Amino acid sequence: DWTMAEFRRTKIAEIREQVGSSRVICGLSGGVDSAVAAVLIHEAIGDQLTCVFVDHGLMRMGEAEQVVSLFRNHYNIPLVHKDVSPLFLGGLAGVTDPEAKRKFIGKTFIDVFEAEARQVGGADFLAQGTLYPDVIESVSFTGGPSVTIKSHHNVGGLPDRMNMKLVEPLRELFKDEVRALGRELGLPDIFVGRHPFPGPGLAIRIPGEVTRERCDILRKADAVYLEEIRNAGLYDAIWQAFAVLLPVKTVGVMGDFRTYDNVCALRAVTSTDGMTADIYPFDAAFLSRVATRIVNEVKGINRVVYDYTSKPPGTIEWE
Ligand code: XMP
Repeated sequence: DWTMAEFRRTKIAEIREQVGSSRVICGLSGGVDSAVAAVLIHEAIGDQLTCVFVDHGLMRMGEAEQVVSLFRNHYNIPLVHKDVSPLFLGGLAGVTDPEAKRKFIGKTFIDVFEAEARQVGGADFLAQGTLYPDVIESVSFTGGPSVTIKSHHNVGGLPDRMNMKLVEPLRELFKDEVRALGRELGLPDIFVGRHPFPGPGLAIRIPGEVTRERCDILRKADAVYLEEIRNAGLYDAIWQAFAVLLPVKTVGVMGDFRTYDNVCALRAVTSTDGMTADIYPFDAAFLSRVATRIVNEVKGINRVVYDYTSKPPGTIEWE
């Protein structure tokens, strides 16, 4: 891809110019954007870069392992794997307001990055995989008075007191362009084609209080759903698909017993940039297969519903 080869050269020069001989910390979220940013920056400044995978305990099933192996085995880029789930889950205890969750998570990410910056003997820069839609959605709604829709942690959610300067080489790009750049940089197709995953992770897919137990329940349901989507050959036709664990219990019946358990909602949308989205029209047989499997296999869920809301008026995530 000529354009992306050109973009790659230009950005590499810009990154070198911006950071000089300073050290840079790059947070990996498990998504495509931060991975592409990290690989690009590594190409520009080599071992001045330290990649940190902040495992907040809010990842999908198997995701942490996949990211760690991509960086260590495929690229041989050194990666610090920080398991800080007690810090995140501890701080989220009792927090139910969506913006409060995002603010806490954004601030805690920065605390972890700053600690890591000290660890490497001082880093002046923090790199992020911020994209163009993140920039606009965090700033204002279609040019009107500045209304924050959601404080995306990798933009609006950063605390003002942050000491590090930002390196955001993907700020002008849309998702499809980041994927093209990822291919240009040699990221495996399976990684480049990944659905977007938000920085706050499962926390914004668990309305109400986030606990380790609820994360575990959600991870299992989500994994069943994604497995069925892959088996049906639908993964690449969908922009994002995920399960949401609702803070609602309903009555059900299993064999001879009455159950009283959580409801799980399934979301799947098509989109080109995440700014607008349409629901994915699964056929009824597919949805009932997934619902049956989740109720049978995931302890703690006894009812499954499908979210039929497009964006707008809904957002893709539930919080
Ligand atoms: P919404 O829910 O606003 O999401 O329609 C649009 C796209 O952005 C992702 N998203 C986030 N990504 N940090 C991120 O890195 C965040 O805080 C965040 N919130 C939403 C969402 O998954 C969708 O792709």
